[in-house]
Amino acid sequence: MTLALEPVVTPVRLGDYRRPAWSVDAIELDVDLGIDATEVSSRLVLRSDTGQSAPLRLNGEGLELLALALDGQALDAHAFRYEGGVLEVDGVRDGSVLETRVRVQPAANTALEGLYLSGSREHGFLLTQCEAEGFRRITFFPDRPDVLARFTVTLRADRQRFPVLLAGGNPTGVGELPDGRHWARFVDPHPKPCYLFALVAGRLENITRDYVTADGRAVKIVIWSEANVIDRCHYALDAVERSMRWDEHTYGRNYDLDVFHVVATHDFNMGAMENKGLNIFNAKYLLADPDSSTDDEYRAVEAVVAHEYFHNWTGNRVTCRDWFQLSLKEGLTVFREQQFSADMNSVPLKRIEDVALLRRTQFPEDAGPLAHPVRPAEYREINNFYTATVYEKGSELVRMLAGRLGQEGFRRGMELYFQRNDGQAATIEDFLGALGDANAIDLKPYLAWYAQAGTPRLHAKSEYDAVAREYTLTLSQQTRPTPGQPEKVPVPIPVKLSLFDRDGRILPLRMDGEEKADGAERVVVLHKAAQRFVFKDVDAPPVPSLLRDFSAPVVLEYDYTPAELALLLTHDPDGFNRWEAGQQLALLAFDTLNDSVDSAACKAWCEALAALFEDRQLDDALLADLLTPPGEIELADRQSEVDPSRIHAQRQVLQQRLAAHMGADALLARYRDLSAHASQPLDAASQARRRLRRRVLELFALLNPERAHALAATQYETALGMTDRLAALGVLVRDRAPQAAAALAHFRDRYADNPLALDKWFTVQAQVPGEPALAIVATLERDPAFTLKNPNRARSLLGAFASTNPSGFHRTDGAGYQLLGERLVQLDALNPQIAARLATAFNGWQRLEPMRRVVARRALETLVQRQGLSPNLSEIIGNVLQ
Ligand code: PHE
Ligand code: ZN
Repeated sequence: MTLALEPVVTPVRLGDYRRPAWSVDAIELDVDLGIDATEVSSRLVLRSDTGQSAPLRLNGEGLELLALALDGQALDAHAFRYEGGVLEVDGVRDGSVLETRVRVQPAANTALEGLYLSGSREHGFLLTQCEAEGFRRITFFPDRPDVLARFTVTLRADRQRFPVLLAGGNPTGVGELPDGRHWARFVDPHPKPCYLFALVAGRLENITRDYVTADGRAVKIVIWSEANVIDRCHYALDAVERSMRWDEHTYGRNYDLDVFHVVATHDFNMGAMENKGLNIFNAKYLLADPDSSTDDEYRAVEAVVAHEYFHNWTGNRVTCRDWFQLSLKEGLTVFREQQFSADMNSVPLKRIEDVALLRRTQFPEDAGPLAHPVRPAEYREINNFYTATVYEKGSELVRMLAGRLGQEGFRRGMELYFQRNDGQAATIEDFLGALGDANAIDLKPYLAWYAQAGTPRLHAKSEYDAVAREYTLTLSQQTRPTPGQPEKVPVPIPVKLSLFDRDGRILPLRMDGEEKADGAERVVVLHKAAQRFVFKDVDAPPVPSLLRDFSAPVVLEYDYTPAELALLLTHDPDGFNRWEAGQQLALLAFDTLNDSVDSAACKAWCEALAALFEDRQLDDALLADLLTPPGEIELADRQSEVDPSRIHAQRQVLQQRLAAHMGADALLARYRDLSAHASQPLDAASQARRRLRRRVLELFALLNPERAHALAATQYETALGMTDRLAALGVLVRDRAPQAAAALAHFRDRYADNPLALDKWFTVQAQVPGEPALAIVATLERDPAFTLKNPNRARSLLGAFASTNPSGFHRTDGAGYQLLGERLVQLDALNPQIAARLATAFNGWQRLEPMRRVVARRALETLVQRQGLSPNLSEIIGNVLQ
């Protein structure tokens, strides 16, 4: 009957929040599945908020309305209106039952939101994605996270074409229907918001495991995928089990349904989705096998599996009141995943990885036109707010709170949070309130962190008084203006610190007002714009180790001498802090890089690392990380007139100096040594060796490319797994070595039927630095395996080029921008979410050097003038341009 137009996009504001006038006690969904057309019947039992009187308004996007009845009576046309994405119905009372029947078109859905087809019409399967607002593309409903309903879902379909029928909740029955059709029913006992609804239907295989929760529930864990990849799901199955155990043990959280289903798809906009009882994963984060996955990918699978599982409590049992509270579930769940991964693998390595990610993704976001608070005050397109700020900075905020409360205090706080909010839609205030109340601490000052965008700068200054044997540290903070927030307030900044003497010994700490020294590490909290902290009994000017473990997401400014940083890099007992000292020293070295002689910083950095390399005391993986200077994006983030090709070249020079200090012979000897031990197992020591082997090869290639390329070619041929194979390929391809072509051809052929491996083949080439990248990308776009329709593939080429290859993308002739602009328009017509995400590669263009800035602006202005762009893409381009 009616096909509604796209709604007009007006911003939604946090301050405008109102409780729902209508909620839904129960929903019965009946889904009659077909690839081209699916019919969805729903029966809603409605509840009205006695305090409000408003007509019933349900969301519905692109739905073909077939029937509508209220309390058993078919409604005639003047009793309802469906326009602008809203169905308004007259005459609804408290307790009324509304029945609707709609038709949707899964195969025509290229946005991968709502009900869609993954794979081909002949062999693919149907699935849903509802977060954030996809449920309204399936049926009429108050599509907001604070409406929690009991779901009963019945699926019907042709048995041949759709032998497997899944939905969230517990299975309660299956049966036959006439004409070769069948049905299956699922009842979810836990009321949930509609964004957590999911269904899957098609030809899928499974692997299973029986699990018994700590509180005694028998659970069937089932992983589903298409037949050809089911063998690659075993690692994920183990990871589900580890996650369940860990959450029982660490937070006392048990799983709460009889089944836990997990499904892999190659067509997915994001990493994965925590639908209640039916998690759906981008195959990239579920499949793993030694022949096609790297060590990093194994860890990513473990992390994402854990993340989605942990949402069962942080997100599902306790959900968000509105989408402004997104970080309530995402920041908290990222933090829980980080704790889990650190426990499963290595505490310092995980922290290094997470801090590096924060600096590479969130810091640039917070420093540019897309900056927004962890809890934004306003948005147009919610899908654009699944950002590094909401996720990664959000996790850092939880980490600060957890650090403030200590391990036991945090657990106590979390227990109170679950107890108070179970089955509810909560806010950040509820979270801080529970953590605070459980510990009799007022955490409200931390709300400022949630409301304020921008990375605070923490400035430190120290003075030493030899007569009083006193050391005084003056800390101050400042946050630069961000769009819409010209004035900033001070936020509480916990600074974990230690003092070292000049021989590298860590000192006991006695602060002003304390009787005696207590430990060698302290957290001081800067509450105001500036504060002084005095340390007693200090015999000589110490070297401060500040912001240990990255105790707050800030930029630390302290005038270290190269010798002081080298001392910390050499002596700090904590791996993370060592790495951090090395990063700071590398930045000093980078800033003082000079054509002829090594600066003091460069010397200190190279010498300290060369010594650590020699003495073989360190873990191989940590050593590999120490030997890696900050990346090009991080280096650019500190400059005002960014020239990405110059940054690339200088970073190469910096690494070359390091390699030269270490010496070609030593590097070669170590490479040989590590190669002799090349093995496949996933244990930490083997992974660490592979990580160091790769770094050593890369450094050696800076001294003796010819020799290194020969070694890389051999490594490629003899590699036992993807980690070593891809590392070798990366060296050959990035250096444009003569052996690269053959290796690429071999890889292309070997992995022709493995899309996830083939994605890496696209990515490694999209990352060739500098001038040649553009032509390579243009050629690869014509590869028959390239398509804009598959998000992973589009990202593997265009995302890798635009977001991870600054010297390739940011050309002075603007051809990189032009290419991206054209693809964004094409992509936008298919999948606005993916287009908008790729467009964030333009972030930071205002700080480019003038030549690039001019051409970047031109490309953006051309884009913004295009008619018919999606609200998603328009919002990003509009914000980036201002
Ligand atoms: N909520 C998902 C997560 O675990 C991310 C996601 C958002 C997936 C929106 C799909 C759509 O982080
Ligand atoms: Zn999440």
